Amino acid sequence: MSSLLGGRLMHWIDLAGALAAFRHSRGYVVTASTDHVDFRFPVRVGDIVILKSSVNRVFRTSMEVGIKVWVESIFTGERHHVSSAYLTFVAVHRDGSRRAIAPVVPHSAEELRRFEDAARRRRFRRAESERKADPERRAEARDS
Ligand SMILES: CC(C)(COP(=O)(O)OP(=O)(O)OC[C@H]1O[C@@H](n2cnc3c(N)ncnc32)[C@H](O)[C@@H]1OP(=O)(O)O)[C@@H](O)C(=O)NCCC(=O)NCCS
Repeated sequence: MSSLLGGRLMHWIDLAGALAAFRHSRGYVVTASTDHVDFRFPVRVGDIVILKSSVNRVFRTSMEVGIKVWVESIFTGERHHVSSAYLTFVAVHRDGSRRAIAPVVPHSAEELRRFEDAARRRRFRRAESERKADPERRAEARDS
């Protein structure tokens, strides 16, 4: 195959996200979750892959990082949007205990939009976790 595997791109997305999270929190971070990711355009051998990441919002010990990926043809310079991903990282001490992070203060209209959207996505994530946990709890109660 002459196309990049989705799993390899996910690895780069995780790395780009971790770098933004690490730089913002100035310490260790772990990936807590990844939202749904689509791959909208193929990456071929020889293409240039561009990843940009930014911390959209800090909650307390966790932060949402947005990562956007483009592919650029080395010959024509034509650029296509490949993926947009939202990952949540949690800041930890060396012993794994959580640590609180300095907030993100949005300045531009774009930063404010990302900041507000991040809160909406967090609510959605939490609702999804609760929805998924319910059948698991029912199964645990049934099996015990
Ligand atoms: C991520 C992890 C630290 C969370 O641990 P936890 O005991 O659930 O933590 P808490 O309930 O104290 O929550 C800590 C923060 O993480 C957030 N969080 C926990 N699980 C989350 C998830 N699945 N998605 C998004 N945020 C999550 C909480 O909302 C909380 O955020 P806040 O402090 O900003 O409000 C823990 O599950 C872990 O260590 N996972 C393994 C991480 C890892 O190794 N990743 C690499 C891939 S193998």
